[in-house]
Amino acid sequence: MTMYRRAIGGDSFYDGDHFHILQILGVLVVTVVILYILRCDIGPKAIPTVDARLSPDGYPNLIEKAKEYRIFTLNTYAGPIIILPPEYIDEIRNDRRLSLAAWNNHEFSTRYAGFEVFRPGTTGDGILQDAIKSGLSRIIGWHKVTLKSSIDFIIQRVVASVVCGPELSSRAEWLETVTTCLEAGGIAVNELRKWPPALRPLVHWFLPSCRRLRAQARQVRRITEPIIAERRARHLKPDSSPQLQYNDGLEWMERSAMGRPYDATMSLLVLFLLGTETMADLLTQMLSDLSERAEVVEAMRLEVLTVLPRQNGWRTQDLHRLRLMDSVLKESQRLKPFEFVLLRRIALDTVRLSDGTRIPKGSGVGVFTGFMCDPTIYLNPTQFDAFRFLNLRNTPGYAHSSQFVSPSASHLGFGYGSQSCPGRFFAVALVKILLVHIVMEYDIKPSGSEGIKLVKDGFRVNTDPEATLLVRRRQDVAVP
Ligand code: HEM
Repeated sequence: MTMYRRAIGGDSFYDGDHFHILQILGVLVVTVVILYILRCDIGPKAIPTVDARLSPDGYPNLIEKAKEYRIFTLNTYAGPIIILPPEYIDEIRNDRRLSLAAWNNHEFSTRYAGFEVFRPGTTGDGILQDAIKSGLSRIIGWHKVTLKSSIDFIIQRVVASVVCGPELSSRAEWLETVTTCLEAGGIAVNELRKWPPALRPLVHWFLPSCRRLRAQARQVRRITEPIIAERRARHLKPDSSPQLQYNDGLEWMERSAMGRPYDATMSLLVLFLLGTETMADLLTQMLSDLSERAEVVEAMRLEVLTVLPRQNGWRTQDLHRLRLMDSVLKESQRLKPFEFVLLRRIALDTVRLSDGTRIPKGSGVGVFTGFMCDPTIYLNPTQFDAFRFLNLRNTPGYAHSSQFVSPSASHLGFGYGSQSCPGRFFAVALVKILLVHIVMEYDIKPSGSEGIKLVKDGFRVNTDPEATLLVRRRQDVAVP
């Protein structure tokens, strides 16, 4: 400073210093104001944070909040998430700056050791998505069955055999290890969330639930990796016989990877998880709905009889012709989607929506599915109308969007846009085949007078795990 004063000389150095300080202050004030405008959304586009915290009953006041505020930030079990109204669906659905994979990594804490069981072993290079797209294109008298556990049992075995291949799915030990590992994963994710984000990188090393998860993940690798290695070795043999050609999840991933490195074990685990949880939820809800609607089951049986293949099992075109079944499935999912905040993403960059709403980089964003019960979109929206989407199919302009596999801005059951569910074609085909057998070979009815309870869990609404149904084998009915 002395040098500076000398250089400008005499009394004027005080004026010069003053001017300099004012300049710096001015720049500082302008910078702070700009930063404030950029960081805090002031003005009409500010996004309020609402008090709709997670309770044991999920988010009980979410419907009211969605009516009160157009856009709001919800504090969830997985951190804050900006909830957008359905008007934005078309705008965000194909925006690659809003990433589903990043949301999943965030929600399941996949950056921590052991939690890779929830991370496709492919690093955003689409191996899993491409693999799915290319590959999947006796009891007599009434019996009480526990709905959820019975469906879980069936779905886990079917998905394992189709997705994970014969060598793994035929081993009871593998299925048991995988389901135990995924259960341990769910517990560890919930335990870790109770800690402040800043401490998680440290505490995950010590929490007993996280240590258990790591042990389970090692166990899954111990059983799965030798089998994958064996298959790869067989592939390398030039004389691979035709009976060694596989058509399952592992094979589809190997083909789409085209030699790129990826974690095949964890990818299989994620495929298994994605397929089983969602499909079991859909089938459980569907049976719960059907148990109270004998007339719908009767109509579905008639439809099956008209399209029943005479021989050689079910073909894709036969399943397409099950239009009433398709409509009932879509209606069941409309009233109870797998989760009630969908299109969940993390903004990889700051995104400005068309009306100026700003989604800051790194924030979570999603759409509340309450609009799927909006009377301006659906007539008598809270009523279960088995024929709703069948009738819509015959309405000009709705032939495509009313099909179960077709996501649209009015039905987000499989998501929507470039990141929508790639497994839905496979899921719908499989659920239809299972339903054909169930409705044709069994009678079902509620086991009590109160209907089946739903239990809220975060963004999910699950069938009460204790809920039961009465099931009776129909006589002399068998389908191919
Ligand atoms: C009834 C069954 C199913 C339902 C309801 C369902 C639902 C969903 C939903 C809502 C999404 C998010 C889409 C979005 O936010 O835009 C999704 C993504 C995904 N689903 Fe499914 N799904 C089902 C079955 C399956 C099956 C059987 C598989 C594979 C075996 C699968 C694999 C995936 C994958 C890999 C993604 C992530 C897509 C991406 O990251 O781009 N799903 N699913």
